[in-house]
Amino acid sequence: MTRPVLLPAVSILVLALPLFARGGHPPGDARGEKMIDSLVRAMTIEEKVGQLVLCTPLRDDSLAGPSVSAEQARLIARGRIGGILNIRGARATHEAQKIAVEESRLKIPLLFGLDVIHGYRTTFPIPLAEASSWDTAMVEQDARVAAAEAAASGVNWTFAPMVDIARDPRWGRIAEGSGEDPLLGSLMAAARVRGFQGRDPASDGSIAACVKHFAAYGGAEGGRDYNTVDISERTLREVYLLPYKAAVDAGALTVMTSFNEIAGVPSTGNQALLTGILRTEWGFRGFVVSDWTAVTEMIAHGVARDTPGVAALAFNAGTDQDMESGAYGLFLSRLVREGKVTAARLDEGVRRVLRVKYALGLFDNPYRHSSEEREHSTLLSPDHVARARDAGRKSIVLLKNSGGVLPLSKKIGSIAVIGPLADDRGDPLGPWDALGRPQDVVTLLEGIRSALPPSAHVLYAQGCTIEGNGTGGIAAALEAAKNADAVVLAVGESSAMSGEAASRSSLDIPGIQDALIEAVAGTGKPVVLVLMNGRPLSIAWAEAHIPAILETWFLGVQTGNAVADVLFGDCNPSGKLPVTFPRTVGQVPFYYNHKNTGRPAVDTARFTSRYRDLPSSPLFPFGFGLSYAAFDYSDLTVTPGTIDSAGTVTVAIRVKNTGARAGEEIVQLYVRQDVGSVTRPVRELKGFRKIMLAPGESRQVEFPLPGRDLLMYDAAMRRVVEPGRFTVYVGTNSRDVTEGHFTVRRK
Ligand code: BGC
Repeated sequence: MTRPVLLPAVSILVLALPLFARGGHPPGDARGEKMIDSLVRAMTIEEKVGQLVLCTPLRDDSLAGPSVSAEQARLIARGRIGGILNIRGARATHEAQKIAVEESRLKIPLLFGLDVIHGYRTTFPIPLAEASSWDTAMVEQDARVAAAEAAASGVNWTFAPMVDIARDPRWGRIAEGSGEDPLLGSLMAAARVRGFQGRDPASDGSIAACVKHFAAYGGAEGGRDYNTVDISERTLREVYLLPYKAAVDAGALTVMTSFNEIAGVPSTGNQALLTGILRTEWGFRGFVVSDWTAVTEMIAHGVARDTPGVAALAFNAGTDQDMESGAYGLFLSRLVREGKVTAARLDEGVRRVLRVKYALGLFDNPYRHSSEEREHSTLLSPDHVARARDAGRKSIVLLKNSGGVLPLSKKIGSIAVIGPLADDRGDPLGPWDALGRPQDVVTLLEGIRSALPPSAHVLYAQGCTIEGNGTGGIAAALEAAKNADAVVLAVGESSAMSGEAASRSSLDIPGIQDALIEAVAGTGKPVVLVLMNGRPLSIAWAEAHIPAILETWFLGVQTGNAVADVLFGDCNPSGKLPVTFPRTVGQVPFYYNHKNTGRPAVDTARFTSRYRDLPSSPLFPFGFGLSYAAFDYSDLTVTPGTIDSAGTVTVAIRVKNTGARAGEEIVQLYVRQDVGSVTRPVRELKGFRKIMLAPGESRQVEFPLPGRDLLMYDAAMRRVVEPGRFTVYVGTNSRDVTEGHFTVRRK
């Protein structure tokens, strides 16, 4: 194709942009659309395809992070690359951006994408942990910090939030999401998008969000990563799709396809999903990127024979940009020339990518305030580290505290800190730690040491490794335990055991850690078990025998300080589980919002839906978490008793702190539609409030419950509120509740 005559006009337009660039760049605004039209008119087919190519840098010889190879530099200069992932650091991104905006014909800036999942350099708790805080303001704030650090480093796009609902803890990626509930997941998804993108994605310290993995990646059969998903359209729409929708509604600029198929259709080639639902139903205006090589993986899925075949399938379905498979770069131009992809579809894909670049302000300011000085002053700043500590405290869930073992007194004479994770510096960062560095981590041992006065005797023994079988360290651990007034025992998983490609067939604490726990418990000393892990673990023995248990997940750089704050009572724990804890792996998938069946489980009745060798209940239910305070629930009212579907019920309850310490409680509201045209879940979370109560204080908590919160898909898949009786449940978790009723009258 020859050089288009419009080029001078485009250049003038691009140059003129900063003059009228103030006041945000909403995707789709007239100014941007005009500029994009001019650019698209000026582009050759190859340059258009270039915008749809996302690749990873091939050279990794720079201290500032991987930078582009000579070959990639040539491709950028020729307009054949639209974005680079895994590049980072102001120096490397400037180098690449300079080629794009100074050497390429149309001077279109590059996107720089990275998995900034729970922090950039300041590593925050993993998303599953932060979901345990049920604190959307905190989650938004932490995403904001991550965005500010990434932006300082030249990254302008994060592959987050990961919002996949996960009902099976065998799946390693459960760590990256917000657990099993669609409402909690949706609120967390939207909070993260707001945090990453700010009010205006072009503003200082904002980066583009990418909602992933669209869709239902968490539904992988057997919890095995990349596996088949086969769920009903009802479950897809009522459970799995909700958090993606919430993220799109919050303004997420990009969406990533998932590796899996749903009912025979791989997501990357799923037109009904990527175009029907995402564009037509939800009005999404950004672009869709494939997951890593997901385009060519459709050959293995068996829906096309070769690379041109999958490229056409993916692109025509609505996957606008190809991450790393090379299929678009190699074949899209040819497919357009052969008429297998229309020129209009190509232009549409390009427009969507340019729209996101425009929304990020890249045409005005391709370097977006990143610089090495900025990196220096922003990354791991004291304010960010303080926020990580606060987030860590709020993400901890107290699972057991019998006999008031916790909080421990700081006047304690001696304490034994034992376990493979007690002084571990790398694993507390968790999976997907971006630029997180072990040297930034405060270990549990260090946190305990700095919380206690110098007079306290802190003994340490590793006991065993996380996955190994060596028992040689147990004797020293027992010795330390015997010489101490109390034991803090830190066990769990390595960070590599969760995240991508880290599914497990067992939920047991790995290696010989169970033997260590039993041996330490046998000393008769008061033991506090501190769990570090990326998924619910089966800890039935510990639950029965250890007096105090803290679920701390992976808390990031401030692990030791955050856990010590809770251990010694400087912080009263308030986290609640965003996932069900099964008793054993045999119970999974296990989630609180299940159906009732025709034979609901009764443990003493044989012909009911249960396992003959296990109680039917979970070890800890969804929403569970204790406090050093105690909360009493009373006086539930549901008014009015009858509404029509446009009305609103007010559910109110009195909550009193009957304990001796001030504490926060997350009051939870669940609803069940008693009878429907189709079966309904036994309960569904419809709201929650986090309240702080002083000792003896009580407060009335009110939840407005509008009729639209009762929407469901009826037998004909229409979205309606069905008349009939509803049961409301209010309480401290999904199991321990007080119930009331109301009715939706027939119109
Ligand atoms: C993961 C994505 C991630 C991408 C880029 C893939 O393997 O599934 O979640 O964003 O790699 O790192």
